[in-house]
Amino acid sequence: MTMGVQKSDPIIIVGGGAFGLSTALHLTRSGFTNISVYEKDDHIPPRYSAANDLNKIVRAEYEDPFYTDLTIKAIAEWKTPLFAPFFHQTGFLHCVSGDASQKAIDTLARFRASAEKNAQIKPHVVPLDNVNDVRQACWQLDGPLTGWNGYLNRFDGYAHSGNALAAVYRAAQAAGVRFYLGEHGAVDEVVYVSTLQGRKSSGIRTKDGKFHPSSLVIVAAGGAVGRLVPELGKKVVAKSWSVAHVQLTDEETSALRGIPITYARDLGFLFEPDPKTNLLKICPMGGGFINTDPKTGISHAPDTLEESAFVPDHDEKQMRKLLAHTLPALANRPLVKRSLCWFADTDDSDFIIDYVPGTSDSVVVLSGDSGHGFKMFPIFGSWVSDFLEHSRQRNAQWRWKQTDPNAEKGNWGGDVSWRLGESLELKDIRPKVVSKL
Ligand SMILES: Cc1cc2nc3c(=O)[nH]c(=O)nc-3n(C[C@H](O)[C@H](O)[C@H](O)COP(=O)(O)OP(=O)(O)OC[C@H]3O[C@@H](n4cnc5c(N)ncnc54)[C@H](O)[C@@H]3O)c2cc1C
Ligand SMILES: *[C@@H]1O[C@H](CO)[C@@H](O)[C@H](O)[C@H]1NC(C)=O
Repeated sequence: MTMGVQKSDPIIIVGGGAFGLSTALHLTRSGFTNISVYEKDDHIPPRYSAANDLNKIVRAEYEDPFYTDLTIKAIAEWKTPLFAPFFHQTGFLHCVSGDASQKAIDTLARFRASAEKNAQIKPHVVPLDNVNDVRQACWQLDGPLTGWNGYLNRFDGYAHSGNALAAVYRAAQAAGVRFYLGEHGAVDEVVYVSTLQGRKSSGIRTKDGKFHPSSLVIVAAGGAVGRLVPELGKKVVAKSWSVAHVQLTDEETSALRGIPITYARDLGFLFEPDPKTNLLKICPMGGGFINTDPKTGISHAPDTLEESAFVPDHDEKQMRKLLAHTLPALANRPLVKRSLCWFADTDDSDFIIDYVPGTSDSVVVLSGDSGHGFKMFPIFGSWVSDFLEHSRQRNAQWRWKQTDPNAEKGNWGGDVSWRLGESLELKDIRPKVVSKL
């Protein structure tokens, strides 16, 4: 039917976040020669990217062994020269506290079973049956750790995601990828022309009004994907989680050097502090927050950063509770750099790597990161170049899934096996603005 994209054809990638940059890098490695990335922020790492962050968990144990195997491959790549400066194999201390719900306990048990079932991971797993075991695994955790139990997986670690984005940006530039940033990089729409078969993209239009022709448009716009690919409908829900930090001193950072990612499924997680900024990052997790357009019923990431520059009170309490359990000296410190971080959620947590139907194979969408995509950063783009070369996904689960529009519900927050709680609407959690008059 279609000839497929040729190596010298112009290819446009929309979005300079995790999926877009990884794709740009791997397309150059596969011999594609005319690649342009359009990113709406004026620098990379872009502030709108979910990966513009100090750290992301790189954990290999998944309930679905397919993703476990992929993460093992990704971790091998994290150890190669381009990525190694950003990968820190500190281990993943994965527990529940004594207050955890049965759902949290069951989820932890499934992750642990997955780790122990895998021959490569198993030797790195240390059982933590009680509070003493947790303290043995990490002496810096000097809080009460009431009821904590779980396991430590030394195979896992974290990646400095913002710095990794910057490194791949430089590598892609060096390999000849062109970048359009800021007002020249903000994409308004994918442009289509009519064909005998229906329609086909001829390129994109940027917010400055310019048209840019291409043979193929690859949309990797994170939580904003629905604005450019409305055909996704409710297959993808823009969702966010809270992030905040404690500002430490040099000495405090030094004392916590090398601690594992410390995660209680019912409270959230924290990371080894970043030695450059002395910031210790905390995420409370939970069902997350959505931003549903009442007219369409579809959730989109907000357009401005200001709208996401806070965390709701409930999450702040939970982050303080996590600190009180683990590092009580920090429990009443100010929480700084607070924000909601937006990602693209699917009901089965599967990624989407596919042509948008009815576009004559001229538009590819990379989406559905579901809040667990960054660990795949070193290899994600290789699946896209495979897909373009063979017109077949590595995993049938990554296909564009046809759904019955009447059956779509769009807010499955609490149903996802590894999440706790329902999603709330952004409009309901916004801080109340007190009138100064
Ligand atoms: C709080 C939080 C914690 C997370 N923790 C983890 C973790 O521990 N481990 C893990 O593996 N993953 C984690 N993730 C998920 C990870 O961050 C994402 O999977 C990953 O960033 C997805 O990449 P992306 O390219 O799809 O989107 P993004 O990285 O968000 O990039 C999208 C880019 O598209 C740009 N863009 C959007 N619209 C336009 C437009 N119209 N024109 C031009 N540019 C546009 C944006 O500016 C942005 O730079 C977490 C996410 C969140 C929110
Ligand atoms: C890349 O594609 C653009 C758009 O078609 C074209 O103007 C440009 O000449 C191409 N560059 C190369 C090096 O082929």
